[in-house]
Amino acid sequence: MRIAATADLHFSGSRHSALLDQLSRVREAADVLVVAGDLTNFGRPEEMDPLLNVVVRSRIPTIVVLGNHDYESGKQNELVRMMAAAGIKVLDGTAYERDGIGFAGTKGFPGGFGRGVLTAFGEPEVKQFVQAAIDEALKLEHAMAQLRTPKRVVVLHYSPIAATVQGESPEIFPYLGTSRLAEVVDRHGADLVLHGHAHHGQLEGRTTGGIAVANVAITLLQAQQPPTAYRVFDI
Ligand SMILES: [Fe+2]
Ligand SMILES: [Fe+2]
Repeated sequence: MRIAATADLHFSGSRHSALLDQLSRVREAADVLVVAGDLTNFGRPEEMDPLLNVVVRSRIPTIVVLGNHDYESGKQNELVRMMAAAGIKVLDGTAYERDGIGFAGTKGFPGGFGRGVLTAFGEPEVKQFVQAAIDEALKLEHAMAQLRTPKRVVVLHYSPIAATVQGESPEIFPYLGTSRLAEVVDRHGADLVLHGHAHHGQLEGRTTGGIAVANVAITLLQAQQPPTAYRVFDI
């Protein structure tokens, strides 16, 4: 299966025309399109509308997770309903199987990597923040446990490893993801992990267990030669 993957489209009134053009031809290059979060800029339904038009017109099966930007207006449930009505598969702690390939997805959360992972200690506010990261890791666990396919792809918005956020300011690394997500991936095994959110990170890295991780933030893909709107993986 050829999987076209992208993320961080940040669709808004001004941004979409060039993107629409590039995405409209995705069906020639791939069997499935994955969008790893931040579909909209401010999580507004009117930003989602033009994106849905392109996806529906491109007639390619599409799998997405939400990103932090899609939560900004508190309309995330409405966005999910709009996408579901357009036939898009939205993963949120859930799994989906298609043509023998399993997809498990969830948004993920910040929290830091390796020895820098924030732990639930001290103030209740810190514990609450850490709990949100743990909850996202548990959702991923739940999604991965459902898959029965030999081949599986994990879709996240936040990064599960530090390697693919390198290039961003070190000060913000802990806000770009958490290795709590990678622990789950390594426990269950996967062929590929896709994520976005780190707009100026690195294209590729691996979990401690050796699983391939790809940052498909569109800003990063557009910075390659030649610039692309998505990257195609053969699984
Ligand atoms: Fe983003
Ligand atoms: Fe993001």
